[in-house]
Amino acid sequence: MYSKAEVIKRTKSFVRKKMESDPSGHDWFHIERVLAMATYIAKQEKNCDVFVIQLTALLHDIGDWKFHNGDSTVGAKIAKTWLEELTVPEKVIENVCYIVEYISYKGGSPIGQMKTLEGMIVQDADRLDALGAIGIARAFAYGGYKKQEIYNPQIEKKINMSAREYLAKKGTTINHFYEKLLLLKDKMNTNTAKKIAEKRHKFIILFLAIFYKEWNCEL
Ligand code: ADP
Ligand code: NI
Repeated sequence: MYSKAEVIKRTKSFVRKKMESDPSGHDWFHIERVLAMATYIAKQEKNCDVFVIQLTALLHDIGDWKFHNGDSTVGAKIAKTWLEELTVPEKVIENVCYIVEYISYKGGSPIGQMKTLEGMIVQDADRLDALGAIGIARAFAYGGYKKQEIYNPQIEKKINMSAREYLAKKGTTINHFYEKLLLLKDKMNTNTAKKIAEKRHKFIILFLAIFYKEWNCEL
């Protein structure tokens, strides 16, 4: 096998080539932020495999299920093929691929809790990137990409739906805040992420309050 640093370096350029300039909020910079945040959380939480965490952070959106007709196994398959090519040890590949597959069950996971600490950390880092100022920017970028309205008071919020129903039904980006983003702070796995999520959550609440004021022409 190559050195760990070499594997990370090669995986970075593999992922960057695939995800560069994606307009849906799954661009390379999202991956870079998740990598940085996951590495930070790993340092705080200790006793975790940083190599697995970094590989997973890099590969977690490589086959996003929303772009593959809801098939959540594509990412893990791409990751496996790639890591085998680099002759990464089987055990590492297994750990990474479990997390990549699991993390892509987005719409209310049917299979319970993420099983490994490494997975919990990458999941937290990924979720934190959907909060705060960046989270707001990503939501509107995704909304525009999907040709969804910014806000429409007549369109109801989609709460408690299966992933497929959720994708099929028309929504607005403001509704997405209630359907997903405001629920994230209570879903964080690690204490480190919980603290960061609190702060980013508050910023979204503030954003929404000002949004409605301006919507109603309150000065
Ligand atoms: P990730 O792949 O980072 O785990 P998602 O694929 O669920 O997250 O979403 C990517 C980004 O797009 C997130 O910032 C999320 O808030 C946003 N997004 C996802 N679905 C919608 C939607 N229906 N409306 C607006 N934004 C969305
Ligand atoms: Ni992601």
